[in-house]
Amino acid sequence: MNPADVTYLPETPAHDAEIEHINEEAFGPGRFARAAYKIREGGPHERTLSFVAIHGDNVIASVRLTRIAAGEGRALLLGPLAVRPAFKNLGIGRRLVAIALDAAEKAGQPAVVLVGDEPYYGPLGFKRVPRGQVSMPRPVDLERILAMEIASGALARFKGEVCHADHAKIAERSLSPA
Ligand SMILES: CC(C)(COP(=O)(O)OP(=O)(O)OC[C@H]1O[C@@H](n2cnc3c(N)ncnc32)[C@H](O)[C@@H]1OP(=O)(O)O)[C@@H](O)C(=O)NCCC(=O)NCCS
Repeated sequence: MNPADVTYLPETPAHDAEIEHINEEAFGPGRFARAAYKIREGGPHERTLSFVAIHGDNVIASVRLTRIAAGEGRALLLGPLAVRPAFKNLGIGRRLVAIALDAAEKAGQPAVVLVGDEPYYGPLGFKRVPRGQVSMPRPVDLERILAMEIASGALARFKGEVCHADHAKIAERSLSPA
């Protein structure tokens, strides 16, 4: 496969069915039980910061970013990231992560967080979040919570239980005096 035959585009609703299929293939039914899935259930992902890789007429890989909150901190949750098996190990996953990070930075987002393998994401700039700094709505291996800070100090504010940013807004409204 020639890498020049792959194009990278912002995601649109027309890609949804193929992305669902790719995620099902990559993660199986277990994906619904994951902590990150639970967080993403709290609200929509950011279409303009989510990207697909296209080969011919087909979506062959996808990455999504979703706005999240923990305490006073705000960030984007990266994932799911998945590449169709026939297109693995061609640099497509790395490229999608780079495109998403670039878009997040240009959009003025403070940080990107994910639950994933450090050996893969470490070389892409992600570091472990110190143990105990954040918790997830479902059990997760704390060594796999990784982050990349974009705005200085953003990660220090990102503390406590992670939820979808829309969920945090609702909680803030219900706490503020009428
Ligand atoms: C993980 C995944 C997204 C990588 O995408 P990809 O396009 O195949 O990967 P790239 O071509 O960008 O990078 C390939 C390199 O990453 C390595 N790699 C792939 N998955 C890895 C992992 N889980 N841990 C460590 N290294 C990994 C490969 O061995 C390869 O190493 P090399 O460059 O030294 O040969 C893809 O394999 C996939 O969809 N997997 C199933 C879903 C998944 O696990 N998603 C990640 C959720 S955390």
